Amino acid sequence: QTVADPMAAREDGRRFAHHTRREIAEQPEALAATDAALKGLALPPDVVACDRFTVIACGSSLFAGATAREAIERAAGVTVDLEIASEFRDRAAPPRGIAILISQSGETADTIAAMARFRAAGLSTIGMVNVRESVIGRTAELVWPISAGQEIGVAATKSFTAQLLALMRFGIALGEARGTGDAAFRTRLARALDDLPRICTEAEAMEPIARILAERIAGEEEALFIGRGWGAALAQEGALKLKELSYIRAEGYPSGELKHGPIAVIREGSPVIVCTPGDAGQAKVLANASAVAARGAHLVALTDVGGAEAAAATAAETITMPGDALVAPFAQAVFLQLLAYHTAVVLGHDVDRPRNLAKSVTVE
Ligand code: M6R
Repeated sequence: QTVADPMAAREDGRRFAHHTRREIAEQPEALAATDAALKGLALPPDVVACDRFTVIACGSSLFAGATAREAIERAAGVTVDLEIASEFRDRAAPPRGIAILISQSGETADTIAAMARFRAAGLSTIGMVNVRESVIGRTAELVWPISAGQEIGVAATKSFTAQLLALMRFGIALGEARGTGDAAFRTRLARALDDLPRICTEAEAMEPIARILAERIAGEEEALFIGRGWGAALAQEGALKLKELSYIRAEGYPSGELKHGPIAVIREGSPVIVCTPGDAGQAKVLANASAVAARGAHLVALTDVGGAEAAAATAAETITMPGDALVAPFAQAVFLQLLAYHTAVVLGHDVDRPRNLAKSVTVE
């Protein structure tokens, strides 16, 4: 249970200067709570019969959907499309399949408007919300709860990793119910997810490294985050977190797209953070990263034990997060949150209430 005072002592005696920092620390409990809330939830027949889902969301919630997409598609053998809610609401294309509406608040106006298009077409909606008593929580045909506990800081932190977990558990449940997808992958993923509270605790312990990197990033005017597959989505989330908390221009980009334009911005010393896992896709992202390093970029690779050696051969700095490639999106997300948080602290910004932003965006 989150308490309103960030300075209130936790059970482990820790106190925090900001809600955002406290909420980063709450991820082990939040993820355990997500799993507890999902236990025993069954999928209705229309969901089990469906093989095409559309994730619709905004901001970090959209990036959570994009980060988990690969895992859901592989676990369940279904197609997952992604739609930015603020764009989708005005599209002419008729909605198809079942919508997965991801929203921490459950009150985001654009996501609610996108949901209305599915409902008007007589199609089912699944609400992945943190606030159960919200418009999306009350009206979706199926609620697949996030249950991360109250999030006060404007930046999504524990709700992001809880959304990732809820989405991956959904993929596993769907694959099992349908009998489609990669069964061996489901078993490995389910086991890896059971270990997330420990992984997130260990990832948070990497804070001193995040703080050192933050001190450097605080002196930069811009930063680029890159990756492939889920790493590209996580790169976008890392860039969003840095922008929103530190006000530094940051961009998250699929590394394979750099050569189609963005590589032109690279100068001597440009900071580039590479989200890379130690899996079969690593060689490609590192090849793209070497191309930016050859133009003078300073590469910082975020990886796991299995990817550390290859990353170190390419990047100027390698940060090895706990756990394997299956849980890498979670471990790397925690690090990126700490990086953004400490950059904002170094710059003296209001971390819990960044300028121009609201926790819940209830206008179009
Ligand atoms: O409540 P929602 O998840 O629908 O909110 C969506 C976005 O406004 C939200 O994720 C926003 O991008 C975060 N503040 C980013 O940290």
